[in-house]
Amino acid sequence: MKIKVGPSILACDFANIESEIKRVKDAGADFLHVDVMDGHFVPNITIGPGVVAAIRKKTDLLIHSHLMIENPEDYVEAFAKSGSDIISFHVEALGRTRNGRLKKANLLIKKIKRLNKRPAIAINPSTPIADIKGLLDKVDWVLIMSVNPGFGGQEFISAVLPKIFELRNIFEGDIEVDGGITDNTAKDVIRRGANVLAAGSYIFKAHDMKEAIRRLKEDE
Ligand code: DX5
Ligand code: ZN
Repeated sequence: MKIKVGPSILACDFANIESEIKRVKDAGADFLHVDVMDGHFVPNITIGPGVVAAIRKKTDLLIHSHLMIENPEDYVEAFAKSGSDIISFHVEALGRTRNGRLKKANLLIKKIKRLNKRPAIAINPSTPIADIKGLLDKVDWVLIMSVNPGFGGQEFISAVLPKIFELRNIFEGDIEVDGGITDNTAKDVIRRGANVLAAGSYIFKAHDMKEAIRRLKEDE
């Protein structure tokens, strides 16, 4: 499978976001990974739909808005209108009982599709694949977190590796892994069946961004 790399702009120089986006595009980025945090689902606040709309005006790269927020159903419309192409939401944000979650997730997936955007399901490191099995025929993109969401620059949690393998055995769509991705951890996740990598610090801190992205794709 062809490997796609989405730089997480959380690690960029926000005061120069336009040139940072141009820099990742020139370096070979396949899409932009935009981390949306609300201070409730995760203990950090980052980017809202207004900033996504501003980014949209500056690039033709696909934008994946990774919503790490409570009540995602209240905000998907705003993120669709702002020009996101892919919108992921966390199942953990959809209540506690599995059936209640699944029902809400189904509605949300429908809503995102109706807005002509590509829905994706995101799961935290501790959430089992079993929790999303009932949804896999409705989406073609799943995001597996390999750090606890909230901050960039954390260390990769290798306990998620079996989950990637488990998912690849039952799912043909895109599997994105997000958190602590470096040239080393990229090899581990690609070997388990992931084909999409979100990486922040590794890409933005690299001396040679083009080389960094090339290395992430090396197992192709
Ligand atoms: C974490 C975010 C990640 C993060 C990745 O909550 O969802 O996308 O920005 O950053 P690195 O690659 O630095 O771990
Ligand atoms: Zn993310």
